[in-house]
Amino acid sequence: MGKGVGTLYGVSVGTGDPELITIKGQRLLQEVWVIAFPLGVNQKQGLAEKIIAPWITPNQKKLPLYFPYVQDEQQLKQAWKEAAEIVWEYLNRGIDVAFACEGDVSFYSTFTYLAQTLKQDHPQVIIQRIPGVCSPMSAASVLGIPLTLGSQNLAILPALYNVTELDQALSWADVIVLLKVSSVYPQVWKKLESLNLLDHAFIVERATQPEEKIYRNLRHHPNLGLSYFSVMIIPLQDRKL
Ligand SMILES: C[S@@+](CC[C@H](N)C(=O)[O-])C[C@H]1O[C@@H](n2cnc3c(N)ncnc32)[C@H](O)[C@@H]1O
Repeated sequence: MGKGVGTLYGVSVGTGDPELITIKGQRLLQEVWVIAFPLGVNQKQGLAEKIIAPWITPNQKKLPLYFPYVQDEQQLKQAWKEAAEIVWEYLNRGIDVAFACEGDVSFYSTFTYLAQTLKQDHPQVIIQRIPGVCSPMSAASVLGIPLTLGSQNLAILPALYNVTELDQALSWADVIVLLKVSSVYPQVWKKLESLNLLDHAFIVERATQPEEKIYRNLRHHPNLGLSYFSVMIIPLQDRKL
């Protein structure tokens, strides 16, 4: 406040456990008056809002922003534009805004689209990103495994639209992480079965949240009704360390 244009802070809040936020992120959430976050599905409380609940007070201005879960680019762009204008109303009056982002702010996050749209429509905007704990790191920690070791190559596939996309990663990676695995789980399971990779594969659902679930040896779990917040880790055992 008190300057020309406010700053938009993209604050990574971690994957569920509120204590996974950085000290800097927590300080900003407590110093900044306007706290933005993505509205949850069906207007419900979203995950980021839930995570930051212990760190904010009722005196702060909560700014839920609508980002639809659709593929249609026009619809998405429209939503980013509307969200950017809502945020800009504050920034333009010299009021800082902290956007709470689940996981890490630069790791497949909606924040990037919001920031890009703001920069495009209002080039004078000032944006700062505060890094944090992302889902593959949280999943490895709750599994009690290293995500990678030595000279291992890590492949992160953000969304698998066709299981054959796995083949390319299999040709070079030593560890594969699949995000957004819930919608394609049966196909992925069959593919991993055909490659004899199920025994050492893991799924972590809602890592670091009270509802967290861990599935080891996926051979025993051909049918899982997984939450959207699920990540699969496939260590390819015989590769180099
Ligand atoms: C759009 S990406 C967002 C990633 C997020 N920014 C991060 O840093 O992890 C959404 C995907 O991340 C993964 N994810 C996010 N949070 C998770 C959690 N707490 N447990 C398991 N997977 C999670 C899921 O695969 C989900 O489909």
